[in-house]
Amino acid sequence: MEKIANTVFILFGLTGDLAKRKILPAIYHLERAKLLPPTFYLVGISRKGVSPDDVVDLLLRNAENADEASMVRASLHKRISTVNMNIDEARDYPILFDHLHALDLTAQVPLTRLFYLAIPSPLFPLVSEQLSLAEKREARGNDASSRYLIEKPFGSDGSSAQHLINLIEASFSPSQIYRIDHYLAKETVQNILAFRFENPLFSKTWNGSHISHILITAAEEIGIEGRSSFYEGMGALRDLIQSHLLQLLALIVMDRPDSMNAQDIHRAKEAILSRIQPPLPQDMEQKTIRAQYEGYREEAGNPDSVVETYAACTLSIESETWKHVPVLIRTGKALNEKVTEIILVYSDDEHTRKKNYLTIRIQPNEGIVIDVRIKKPGFDDTFDEVQLDYCYRSRDDVSPEAYERVLYDALRGDQTLFATGAEIMECWRISEPILEAWKDKNFPLYHYQKGSWGPAEADRLASQASIKWFDETHRVCTVRRF
Ligand code: BG6
Repeated sequence: MEKIANTVFILFGLTGDLAKRKILPAIYHLERAKLLPPTFYLVGISRKGVSPDDVVDLLLRNAENADEASMVRASLHKRISTVNMNIDEARDYPILFDHLHALDLTAQVPLTRLFYLAIPSPLFPLVSEQLSLAEKREARGNDASSRYLIEKPFGSDGSSAQHLINLIEASFSPSQIYRIDHYLAKETVQNILAFRFENPLFSKTWNGSHISHILITAAEEIGIEGRSSFYEGMGALRDLIQSHLLQLLALIVMDRPDSMNAQDIHRAKEAILSRIQPPLPQDMEQKTIRAQYEGYREEAGNPDSVVETYAACTLSIESETWKHVPVLIRTGKALNEKVTEIILVYSDDEHTRKKNYLTIRIQPNEGIVIDVRIKKPGFDDTFDEVQLDYCYRSRDDVSPEAYERVLYDALRGDQTLFATGAEIMECWRISEPILEAWKDKNFPLYHYQKGSWGPAEADRLASQASIKWFDETHRVCTVRRF
């Protein structure tokens, strides 16, 4: 793994929502933690007349107190600049590259260029082509001196994703492309492989002979938060399942990689993703659920919208290890609470009543928890259910926020926590037949109340598998030390 290079971070989409909510706070926190090198430069790109002082102000919004703010201002402000340009105008790119060239001279080293494309995906082809042309004209040599961070959505279906991948790969080499899936950068998600493979108790029983079901839930309390034009073209299946949740599933069911280096991990993920199957066309109505929260159509300004704000499905895995283990996935907006978790159900065939649950809680109250049955203390021989847990918040270690980890890994050139083109295409192969089935206007679209746990019909998926979804009764790591 490389150490952090002398870098110029070029942020396209400086004034956008993602920059304000995630990227600039991540830069601020990395600088505050002194994780950025003194040769870290930030260039904000915007169409509007944004000045370097404006960027400093945006960064300092994350300060916890005045002392901290003045420390970060003093260390960063001279290394922040802006370029005002139209990113869809080829003739503006020389302005940017002259600026980057001048920064190399100031730093007295050729800076590694980290371009962050926080822009709508229709602009990807044009922007990547212009960047690649400009870099070639400049002929700085060495591929590795530029990296490109790209945000989802990666297409809206398999063919548009493939088109986008081809376009981007025509401009840049795979080692330059960092496709962000910020769920992979969440601390608990990174622990999945360590927990699975470093503990014989679990590595030996992590298979369909012991595990009967896998449940994945990503519930959000928020609705679409004014992002109706984005969400109308998206829906819950594309937004969360095709990307984040299938990535989580891959980490849960992949075989042990040959090593823990990025290439081997990606190879193992791609192999297992290619075995995950959507329901057969004739089973779609039984094994998938789409639903919309009440009031969504008014909020989206589209009285006829059939866009799902809730999606659930049952997938299967065609592999020796996982055959007969149904995977139930659900996600939704405007639900009762924010919770993302993976639950592995250990069942005993002969005593189906007896189950153990292993919960990997990704957020909030992060932790790994096992529900076990014990003898209830006292004179009677009755049983009780208790939890053995490891809760992150009971430790003092600091878990970086996902976007801090994304930026830090891109800065040091580690591609492990990014998605490959092949992974993205497999996720589309799994999701697309479901989206196809949902195009049928007779396919049921259920409705649910905001603040509920989603449509009652989703219970059907669970009962088909003779289990129940967990809801508010499943408390994990709620006891904190502070
Ligand atoms: C994004 C989706 O990728 O993830 C959003 O586009 C969603 O709709 C968000 O709200 C959830 O991320 P997190 O980190 O808050 O769980």
